[in-house]
Amino acid sequence: MSTAAGEVVLEARGLRKHYGPVVAAAGMDLEIRRGEVMALVGDNGAGKSTLVKMLSGAIRPDAGEIVHRGRAIQLHGPHDARERGIETTYQDLALAPNRDVIANLYLGREIVRGGLLKPLGILDRREMTRRATDQLSRLGVRLPALTGTPVGRMSGGQQQGVAVARAASWATDVLFMDEPTAALGVRQSEAVLQVARRIAQSGVGVVLITHIMPHVMEVADRVVVLRHGRKVADMTAAELRQDRLIALMAGYEEGEAA
Ligand SMILES: Nc1ncnc2c1ncn2[C@@H]1O[C@H](COP(=O)(O)OP(=O)(O)OP(=O)(O)O)[C@@H](O)[C@H]1O
Ligand SMILES: [Mg+2]
Repeated sequence: MSTAAGEVVLEARGLRKHYGPVVAAAGMDLEIRRGEVMALVGDNGAGKSTLVKMLSGAIRPDAGEIVHRGRAIQLHGPHDARERGIETTYQDLALAPNRDVIANLYLGREIVRGGLLKPLGILDRREMTRRATDQLSRLGVRLPALTGTPVGRMSGGQQQGVAVARAASWATDVLFMDEPTAALGVRQSEAVLQVARRIAQSGVGVVLITHIMPHVMEVADRVVVLRHGRKVADMTAAELRQDRLIALMAGYEEGEAA
């Protein structure tokens, strides 16, 4: 498998999505590169989550193309994306609240057939716990208990930690993080941003949706701005000025000039 940094690993070409009269995505283009943290920003309702859901198989685009490793693909569900090494932490967490951390980290993997993940089907719980403990400490995610405590009884930040660790553990190509720090305190946010950075360094393309501009400035290599279902800017961190970014998100005319 090629993991050359900078290689475009996943692409959106003209993706469209309508909800009745609402145009959530009006023909979106996006190139996700290995080794890069991309911040995906825009006002509420700009279409960020819609774009990520299309690229991670959660919803079907009405039109347009998804290209993975240079080939046009169809994603029939999140499992299709996951089998391709495309992982997502959703804005609404999608954890199993009644199960413990270990169960959540491996949720659904027991039944995945074939490919890279097949050998994990025969892992015993002890081995899962061992690996999970390693992975969580490598990612800097701290949790009160890995076994025996339902994650539904943990704090919002701890649950977010589980969701991020789960996605990060399995992503080989792309990791989408939809507002992973929205509910977190300073320390936990910092840990999540570091996870994003480490995962990118391992050759994964990381896409971080956030409304928190200091987080964008801190972690992003590239910033893409969406507004009204369209991409209105795509720039490197070096080109980024916070005032211009805010103008683009809000849609001030002078911000659109360049
Ligand atoms: N399931 C749905 N049914 C109807 N309309 C939807 C649905 N999901 C999204 N929309 C609409 O599509 C538009 C884009 O929504 P989306 O969730 O992609 O925005 P967002 O950029 O993620 O916003 P936020 O920052 O608030 O999370 C919004 O106008 C939203 O109301
Ligand atoms: Mg959203």
